[in-house]
Parts: sequence; structure tokens; C-alpha cells
Amino acid sequence: MAKYRIAWMPGDGIGVDVMDAARIVLDKLKLDAEYIPADIGWEFWKKEGEALPERTVELLQNVDCGLFGAITSKPKDEAQAELAPELQGKGLTYRSPIVRLRQRLQLYYNLRPCKAYPGNPLNYRDNIDLVIFRENAEGLYSGVEFFPVADDLREMMKRYSPALGNFDDVPGDEMAMTTRIVTLRGANRVIRRAFEYAKEHGYPTVTLVEKPNVLRETSGMMVRVAREIAREYPGIELWETNIDAQVMWLLKNPENYGVIVTGNLFGDIVSDLSAQLVGGLGFASSGNIGDDLAVFEPTHGSAPKYAGKYVSNPNAMLLTTKMMLDWLGEAEMAQTLEDAIAGVILEGKVRTYDMGGDSSTLDVANAVAERL
Ligand code: IPM
Ligand code: MG
Repeated sequence: MAKYRIAWMPGDGIGVDVMDAARIVLDKLKLDAEYIPADIGWEFWKKEGEALPERTVELLQNVDCGLFGAITSKPKDEAQAELAPELQGKGLTYRSPIVRLRQRLQLYYNLRPCKAYPGNPLNYRDNIDLVIFRENAEGLYSGVEFFPVADDLREMMKRYSPALGNFDDVPGDEMAMTTRIVTLRGANRVIRRAFEYAKEHGYPTVTLVEKPNVLRETSGMMVRVAREIAREYPGIELWETNIDAQVMWLLKNPENYGVIVTGNLFGDIVSDLSAQLVGGLGFASSGNIGDDLAVFEPTHGSAPKYAGKYVSNPNAMLLTTKMMLDWLGEAEMAQTLEDAIAGVILEGKVRTYDMGGDSSTLDVANAVAERL
């Protein structure tokens, strides 16, 4: 039997292209793993009315980890329209399967390293090395939403939060509500992970990015928890910033930041911005990590118009594969892979279109594999 069981989830669009690239390097590294194909994505929404079939969730509960390509997410109306005719009008609603996976399997933090590899012509600056810890299972992604907003619900909520009275003249069917939920459990676990990571990897600071001056309750809870946890890590300084100022500072002096920890939607935004600082989504790796399961995915989407063309930059996927190896405890293999990726970037000969070259997705993977 193989040492590791890995759920293999290419998903949609270029997810397939970049997963092929991942396989090239994994095979070259001779990782002792069984790759088990798992169904996820738009195709299953259209056919079955479920983009994340239960069999996939069950499989994930019985593997060491998952590797995931990309997924197509479309707004409510478009999702309905593409459903198989026999499934229409059955009240099925589309919610992003990756978001649900994070919640169902309690993959409660999303680790998103953004490191500038020398030689990458797309680097904004060369000395950027930050790691984002994005809360991954609650916040504005909790999925607790209301439309229309029922009168009895409004009355009850107003008793606890009088500010809702400011909307008394708005009919319930002219109002939509999405709630931001933060729990002590959620705040504690992601912030602790961030501090642990800073300690382990020698980062001098952890920056908590929130907005407590306005989001008094949810951001306020994050701040309280961060201050409490920071006391246990005397060698690491806690910086507290507001999300709006933080994005400005990330453009002004990104090299000042090390570990960043933030809520779900802020983390979504800050991680795309940070990815752009180090070459864009073609370089952005990530891991959805829980206590004993993780699903690794490049941050980019499924880019339908490039699907199957094998032109997409696989570095995000290859760096994601490196994260997976680290998480499995294969630190040496992970380092070898990262060195090979960095080597190909530095040499600058094999580049996809986004880097100004004309190499294919698999050319890049093969160039990396050659160095392994
Ligand atoms: C990401 C993506 C997802 C998110 C989408 C696809 C739902 O943007 O992983 O950052 O918003 O979390
Ligand atoms: Mg995103």
C-alpha cells in the first residue's frame, strides 16, 4: 500500500491543465502516494445539482489530504440557468463547493504564502516574503444570508441591535442581508496558528488586519483574542492594522510585513493583492488546513477561456504541491521542489505567456522536473 492517499480533484477549466503539471513533478519526486480521483465542480452541478457530491466529502474524510485544481463559480441566476432541465425548479441552490468544503471539513485556516522569487519579471519588488493566514470557515463566508428579510426577523433583530431601525422605511423585499459571524473558537485557532508559524519560521511580527473601529463586535473579538494570544509569544510583535490602510501599506512597503492574519473576506482580498506583488495569480499557492486534514489549491480560478489550452502558469500549482509535501511531513522533498521551481524562474528560459514567454504549462512542469 502507498504511504499516502491523496484525493485528486482537478475540478474545472485550467484546473485540469495545472493538475497535469503537478503530476509530472510528483511522479519525478517519486512520492509514495495513491492519487484517488474525486468528483467536484461545475459539471456535477449541471448534471447532479451538486457541485460537491457527498461521495467526495466522504472520500476526503478518508485520505491524508486533497489536491485541488480550480472551480467555476457563477452567480445565482446563471447557476440556475445551467442546471439540467430535469433539475430545474427543484429549489437547488448553488454555493461554491470549495467554500462549503472548507466549512464541512473544518479546514479553518487558509495559508497563502506570497514570496518573490528572484528573476521573476512580474515581481513588484524582490524582497517580499509574506504569509497570509486567512480565517477560512466563518466570517462573511458563513453563508447566513437573508433575502427578503422577514418582518418578524427584523423586529427581533432590532431589539438586540437598534441600528436596524435606520432601515424601518425599507420594505423587507427591498433589502438583503449577509451576516459576518466570528466565534471565539474561530478567532483563537487561526490567530494561534499564525503565531505558531511566525515562531517556527522566525518572522518577527504578526499583523492582525481587521476593522475594529467600525466592525466593533466581529473585528473587536479578533483584536481581543490576538492581544491575548500575543502575550504567550513575547518574541513576536503584534501589529494591528485596518484593512483599508493595510492594502495601501502593502503597496507602499510590502517588505515590512511577515505573517498576516485576518478574517475570511479581508483575507480573500488581501491575498489577491499580495499575490499580485509577487507575480500574480500564476504564483499564488494555498492550503485549506484543519486539524488533521488539508486540501491544497492554487488561489487562481478556472479561467474557462484558457481551459485545455495548456498555456496557464503552473507555478501556483507547483508551489501548492510544495505546500502539500510540507504538510505531509516530506520537508526535504518540499525543499527540493521549491529549489527547482526557483531555479527555473531564475534561469528565465521557460516562461508562460504571463511572464512574457511562450512555453506551455507542461514545458514549465518538465523544466522543474528536470532539476529534481
Ligand atoms: C479564493 C477564491 C474563492 C474565495 C472563491 C472561488 C469562492 O476567490 O479561494 O480566494 O472567495 O474564497
Ligand atoms: Mg479569492
